[in-house]
Amino acid sequence: MRCVFFFLRLLMLVHGQYIGNGLRYVSDTCEALKEALDIMAINGDQLVNGIVGGQVVESDCTKLRKINVMDYHGDDGQDAICVNSCYNATASTFAQMINNDCFQGNDDYEVANQRLYAASFQFACQRYASSKYCVTLIAQKVSDAGTSSDICGKIIDEIDCCFESYRRYMSFGTQASIAQLNYIQKKCGVGSPCSCGYNAFATNISNVYICSSGIIYNISIC
Ligand SMILES: *[C@@H]1O[C@H](CO)[C@@H](O)[C@H](O)[C@H]1NC(C)=O
Ligand SMILES: *[C@@H]1O[C@H](CO)[C@@H](O)[C@H](O)[C@H]1NC(C)=O
Ligand SMILES: *[C@@H]1O[C@H](CO)[C@@H](O)[C@H](O)[C@H]1NC(C)=O
Repeated sequence: MRCVFFFLRLLMLVHGQYIGNGLRYVSDTCEALKEALDIMAINGDQLVNGIVGGQVVESDCTKLRKINVMDYHGDDGQDAICVNSCYNATASTFAQMINNDCFQGNDDYEVANQRLYAASFQFACQRYASSKYCVTLIAQKVSDAGTSSDICGKIIDEIDCCFESYRRYMSFGTQASIAQLNYIQKKCGVGSPCSCGYNAFATNISNVYICSSGIIYNISIC
């Protein structure tokens, strides 16, 4: 029971978390990466924004920054996010920010949320089958499970490779969430992440791949 509660909470953790403008100065490299994100949005606005038929048209870059890619959008909605022309550049810039340890501060929880937001672009377009997204599957299974205490049977077994991909994504979060997911992994005995063939945007972030490619990331079992 406790476990189900925690897992649901973890899914909520990234909700509404945005990097914002409040990042402190860490290094020139980090400043350049932040600037790259701003420039993407600005150039996108200049190129694409305008009034068409009385409506303001948003650029792909600004569109992406306004939504939470981890929210439930259904498979079709997730598809639309993942074909966004600005997705890869956004995902790759955020990945470099994690690699360069750009998220720092006094509040560990806040820093973890910033890292998770950045890493959400690694996970959001992970599919487990053609046009089938982990984000959608997890949200559906969690919702179907309701208050069931059979977390392994009702959720973890059902989400299959998405669990391990999710666990790796959550390794960018707090120590408490890492411990919780390791506990679930040990309890339910789950294995491999989904294939990188089903994720065009995942990359090596300090040896963490959320899909199965490259170095196998081993988190110590709690
Ligand atoms: C995404 O961007 C990175 C860095 O610019 C590049 O290496 C990679 O090939 C791109 N991937 C896709 C799918 O466009
Ligand atoms: C992944 O990136 C790290 C640096 O963050 C590097 O040390 C390591 O060699 C890379 N691994 C692979 C397989 O590319
Ligand atoms: C992870 O564990 C596997 C199996 O024990 C091992 O083969 C692999 O080298 C480990 N990877 C790392 C990065 O420690």
